[in-house]
Amino acid sequence: MDKFHKFDLVEDAKRLPYSEEVASFCHSFSCNDQDLDEFFSKDAFFYDVELIGKTYAWVDASDPRQILGLITLANDSVKTNILATSARNRLQRSVTNAKRGINFPAVLIGRLGVSSAYQGKGMNIGSQILDYVKDWFRSSDNKTGCRFIVVDAYNNERTLRFYERNGFKTLYKTEKEERDFLNLNDDEPLETRFMFFDLKTKQ
Ligand SMILES: CC(C)(COP(=O)(O)OP(=O)(O)OC[C@H]1O[C@@H](n2cnc3c(N)ncnc32)[C@H](O)[C@@H]1OP(=O)(O)O)[C@@H](O)C(=O)NCCC(=O)NCCS
Repeated sequence: MDKFHKFDLVEDAKRLPYSEEVASFCHSFSCNDQDLDEFFSKDAFFYDVELIGKTYAWVDASDPRQILGLITLANDSVKTNILATSARNRLQRSVTNAKRGINFPAVLIGRLGVSSAYQGKGMNIGSQILDYVKDWFRSSDNKTGCRFIVVDAYNNERTLRFYERNGFKTLYKTEKEERDFLNLNDDEPLETRFMFFDLKTKQ
């Protein structure tokens, strides 16, 4: 790809359901995160068979052995009755009064990784995968209602910034609120932050 071409996930890549067959056909995948790499090399197939997580791969259209990114999705729901009031208010800010307080259908990003060779190259593959998922779950042929995309994002500055730039918000405004909700002891780290994206907002 020449350096003046702006990478477009829809035009320049192909989406495939990720299976053992796809993985063995493709070059091995690494996003430089050991847990995620391990998940995508083993557990993803088990999740698929057990119907607890469906993984999609985007491969380079001009080199189909090259996996650019992987995402694992699962149905989820946000149960507003167990949330602290402040978090519930944050989540429901744009929900009509009549429908506040229900359990909202959601899709969970269980795992997301972009091949390390393609991170930070200005190709924005991770952001384009999120855009793709947003369009997918907003499209008129979506089979079920889905209001939010949710994710337990790694609690580090770059990952949180990545999701925030893509329109995600932390459900708990502060780490303290989230720690209190999870009943964490002082010596237990808050490894992830719960974030959500409202599919009714434009972005
Ligand atoms: C996080 C990740 C999916 C983003 O995909 P990407 O294609 O690199 O991201 P984009 O190009 O769309 O956006 C760039 C932003 O992503 C984030 N990012 C880039 N590389 C990253 C990395 N190695 N780890 C965490 N975040 C990263 C940064 O916020 C970056 O902005 P910056 O360059 O101003 O710091 C990808 O970097 C990745 O796979 N990281 C390792 C695994 C991971 O952290 N997954 C998320 C688990 S919740």
